[in-house]
Amino acid sequence: MRYTAIIPAAGAGTRLKPLTHTIPKPMVHVAGKPIIGHILDQMEGAVERVVIVVGYMKEKLIDYVEKNYKNKFKIDFVEQKEQMGLGHSIWVTKDVIDGPVLIVLGDEIFERKYKEMLGECSDEYDGTIGVKEVDNPSLYGIVELNNDNSIRKLVEKPKITKSNLAAAGVYVINNSKILFESLDNIVEGKGGQGGEYQLTDALQVMVDKGAKLNTFKIEKWYDCGRPEMLLNVNKILLKSSRIKGEIENCAVIDPVIIEAGCRIKDSVIGPYVSIAKGSEVVNSIIKNSIIGMNSEIKDVLLMGSIVSAEAKVFGKGERLYIGENAEIDMR
Ligand code: G1P
Repeated sequence: MRYTAIIPAAGAGTRLKPLTHTIPKPMVHVAGKPIIGHILDQMEGAVERVVIVVGYMKEKLIDYVEKNYKNKFKIDFVEQKEQMGLGHSIWVTKDVIDGPVLIVLGDEIFERKYKEMLGECSDEYDGTIGVKEVDNPSLYGIVELNNDNSIRKLVEKPKITKSNLAAAGVYVINNSKILFESLDNIVEGKGGQGGEYQLTDALQVMVDKGAKLNTFKIEKWYDCGRPEMLLNVNKILLKSSRIKGEIENCAVIDPVIIEAGCRIKDSVIGPYVSIAKGSEVVNSIIKNSIIGMNSEIKDVLLMGSIVSAEAKVFGKGERLYIGENAEIDMR
């Protein structure tokens, strides 16, 4: 089958604030490139056309994608003017989609090529949904299965549930006609909750209409929707160093990524540090951290930190004369 990818990337990224004050969530850097860059790299060879749903700070996202991926895919942008939930953001693509779709959320990274994944999805089903067992089901869309692994029931962020199998943000829908009919049902029938229309609810409508949805287990799934998750993902994905910026009088502890246009001086960088392009670091120690584009960092010790794009962090660079037998606790 020839799939078109849909990447919903219009949300305001509230849970990643303040990182998303100046950039949309898919543009947040992790392990050397924006989240959307990781997603599109994994999609090469799987699809020829990508439809990206944009909204919040759409210009920055469009600019990055056009500069870096225009020669790799046919890309269309569709605007979701009001943030009315994931289901609504898929619904707005209905006039530009015809045929099977691969939906991948704009804040999820998989360490696997989508081409392989699509190859494992059977054409016999109306759709196949990537799932993963989670410890906190109330944060996800949860699925309950029949004995043959097909889906019986889906509930978005249930307070109480018997299942801990979460929809992990990859939805392969062979029968997009029934998906869009189901989305029409919830959007036009006002079947939303709290002003939001959920994709999970539309999938439940599909099941109610008799559609057969299968599941496949997803490993190495990295949800980047919350800051603590982002640092963890940075650590996992940073496997080797790549240094393009200028470095003077520094100690680098692998793995680190220092992008082009960075100037790093008199500092200790690493391990697990990703510094986005155009940033300047002087006289600092940075470990296990993500530094956004064009930031300025001077005289500081950063551990397990995330610094947004264009931020400035200046420390004091303490000078101490310490007497014999002294104990100074500066925590
Ligand atoms: C969305 C979906 C949810 C899914 C999750 C995966 O939730 O609504 O069904 O399980 O992504 O990360 P969100 O993370 O946008 O709240």
